[in-house]
Amino acid sequence: MVLVVEAMTLHAHELDPHRPNPARMYDYYLGGFHNFEADREAAEAAEIAFPGVKAAARANRDFLRRVVRYMIGQGIDQFLDLGSGVPTVGNVHEIAQAVNPDARVVYVDSEPVAVHASETLLAGNSGAAILHADIRHVDAILNAPQVERLLDLTRPLGLIMASVLPHIPESDDPDRLVARYLAALAPGSFLMISHGSVDDFDDTETDGIYKLYRASTSPITSRTRERIASWFDGLELVEPGVVVVTHWHPDTGDAPVKLRLPHYGAVARVP
Ligand SMILES: C[S@@+](CC[C@H](N)C(=O)[O-])C[C@H]1O[C@@H](n2cnc3c(N)ncnc32)[C@H](O)[C@@H]1O
Repeated sequence: MVLVVEAMTLHAHELDPHRPNPARMYDYYLGGFHNFEADREAAEAAEIAFPGVKAAARANRDFLRRVVRYMIGQGIDQFLDLGSGVPTVGNVHEIAQAVNPDARVVYVDSEPVAVHASETLLAGNSGAAILHADIRHVDAILNAPQVERLLDLTRPLGLIMASVLPHIPESDDPDRLVARYLAALAPGSFLMISHGSVDDFDDTETDGIYKLYRASTSPITSRTRERIASWFDGLELVEPGVVVVTHWHPDTGDAPVKLRLPHYGAVARVP
């Protein structure tokens, strides 16, 4: 709570604690504390409107951890995490630096509470930084001082887009956005995308949850598995391809999790 109050001071002009914010709702789904009453109420209402939202958020986070471990195993030692969210446990730099203390990570998020919590967590970590920016500003991000200081774009990098593209509406051309980031990556880099999808559901079933997100600071867009898969065209998809995230390289001994809300994810290598 202290962090939240400090964040309000730091970024008061951008922060509306009375309007639910998806980053802080997501933090609540994961059991975090960087959220306000309006976020908690909306998150609980979302879970009632569409049971399984919380489980999908947790499964997405577990997928992220497995992907970072996979990329490290492929020799990746630098990461750009777009729409990184409020840090909980098992963040990208923690996983990467536990294996390789020299691993570098730049986080990017537009939500002030997420940014402030990340700044606090990363204080004193010379290999990781947070950039307060909108991922739609590709050139500004790729030329940001944090990126120039920590990442070498001429070498392979792990690009993470975990559950951020639902926040990019069609009017902002997510296809072009993904393509622009990919164009900046060196061969041997990896791309990870995860994305929720309610396209197999009846509109009446999903109406409640969409209404809630429409009232938030950042409405979400659902996309089909085929559409999500299209962002990997021209890349070398890592097996098993675009799947519900719980099916992507599950840890040995993991109990099978059936997600009511399909959350697709995949990893691919840049040739
Ligand atoms: C659902 S959370 C996912 C967090 C994290 N990537 C994960 O998977 O655990 C989406 C995050 O994307 C951020 N976000 C949404 N739109 C963004 C934008 N245009 N630029 C930067 N960050 C954005 C939100 O603030 C939020 O923290």
